[in-house]
Amino acid sequence: MTAENCAIVRIQDNGRGIAGNILSKIFDPFFTTKPVGKGTGLGLSIADRMVRDKHQGYLICTSKSGEGAEFAIVFPKKIRCSKND
Ligand SMILES: Nc1ncnc2c1ncn2[C@@H]1O[C@H](COP(=O)(O)OP(=O)(O)OP(=O)(O)O)[C@@H](O)[C@H]1O
Ligand SMILES: [Mg+2]
Repeated sequence: MTAENCAIVRIQDNGRGIAGNILSKIFDPFFTTKPVGKGTGLGLSIADRMVRDKHQGYLICTSKSGEGAEFAIVFPKKIRCSKND
């Protein structure tokens, strides 16, 4: 995808950020740093899957510990349609 053929939605927060060793795992199903019983670890894996399966796009997270996080949703402007859509 190039800058011309995609639309990007960026969402930033000013939270605690995400350390480098955690960043590579945040889209994994059931990965959570929340206390036991608080998080399913499914939020980002479901979001990533929806963007991939329904929009043929992808999610990117950029963050450093202590510096907030930015999520970018990259949507292609044209998508391949199948009979099941
Ligand atoms: N905006 C954020 N700032 C800091 N860490 C984040 C952020 N979003 C996600 N994370 C990290 O990614 C992990 C996985 O997120 P995900 O949304 O998949 O699950 P969860 O939030 O832990 O659980 P649930 O979605 O069920 O509440 C979180 O536990 C947290 O460590
Ligand atoms: Mg979540």
